Amino acid sequence: MTTQLESLRSHSLVVADTGDIEAVARWKPQDATTNPSLLLTSAEDPRYRHLMDADMDRVFVNFGCEILKHIPGRVSTEVDARLSFDTQGSIAKAQRFISLYEKQGVKRERVLIKLASTWEGIKAAEKLEREGIHCNMTLLFSFAQAVACADAGVTLISPFVGRIYDWYKASRKVDDIPVEDDPGVASVARIYTYYKKHGYKVQVMGASFRKTGQILALAGCDLLTIAPDLLEKLSKAEGAIPRMLSPEKAKAQSMEKVHWDEKAFRWEHNQDAMATDKLAEGIRRFDADARKLEKLLTSLAAAVPAK
Ligand code: E4P
Repeated sequence: MTTQLESLRSHSLVVADTGDIEAVARWKPQDATTNPSLLLTSAEDPRYRHLMDADMDRVFVNFGCEILKHIPGRVSTEVDARLSFDTQGSIAKAQRFISLYEKQGVKRERVLIKLASTWEGIKAAEKLEREGIHCNMTLLFSFAQAVACADAGVTLISPFVGRIYDWYKASRKVDDIPVEDDPGVASVARIYTYYKKHGYKVQVMGASFRKTGQILALAGCDLLTIAPDLLEKLSKAEGAIPRMLSPEKAKAQSMEKVHWDEKAFRWEHNQDAMATDKLAEGIRRFDADARKLEKLLTSLAAAVPAK
């Protein structure tokens, strides 16, 4: 009998959403994604002390290089959230990451630079893609963000499911929202349909999952990045799962193509209360975790006896 994980792999590329190198080695995904919060958790783990460095960029790249030893594809490394409204700063940080990877013998094709899907982040990605630096647009909650990323010609977007679900659960004051009515699932399905309907090459990777039902509802999405606890659950559940999203189904839908300039992007994004809340909160959370990580690195460096 096939497991849900095996069946899912026949519909979508499965990616591991973790900074835990042993988990990556265990689940053997195609690609892997990290973020500052995941890397803070791993940095606090004594198993990974050898990857620590006083320079946080080097720590991110050290984790990325270790992860790449266990996967055939790409690792995503996230730009500091403090640069979310700084196009030039984001470009410089992405170039530094790529240079640090290249010094460790990793080609840029194996790295995706993760940037927040702010207007400034999307403009940075547009320029980086022209230099052959591939980008993964994260903290993506609104249709406006997805439209701007498509127009910028980025390599991949990571529309979030779970954080949208969290917001609607809190605003509706309920403990759960069934998958059929889940606004996070609906958001990814809409973006996938829009991209395939209009022939955009940008890859869609559903991210931020809270339960396996959300993942199964998006079977067929180009990629799905899944945390180890949910990979475990999918590997223990038996049964073939149907493909829910496909380019053929998307092409049969009627959906108008739109292009929004900066003013229209800001207006459309601002019309979505969930997306404005979650983008702002997401930037604050990643920043807070990056600052905690910096403190940890400083204290570790201070604990090393001087040579
Ligand atoms: C991956 O790219 C995202 O950073 C991750 O899926 C976010 O998940 P979370 O909402 O559980 O933090």
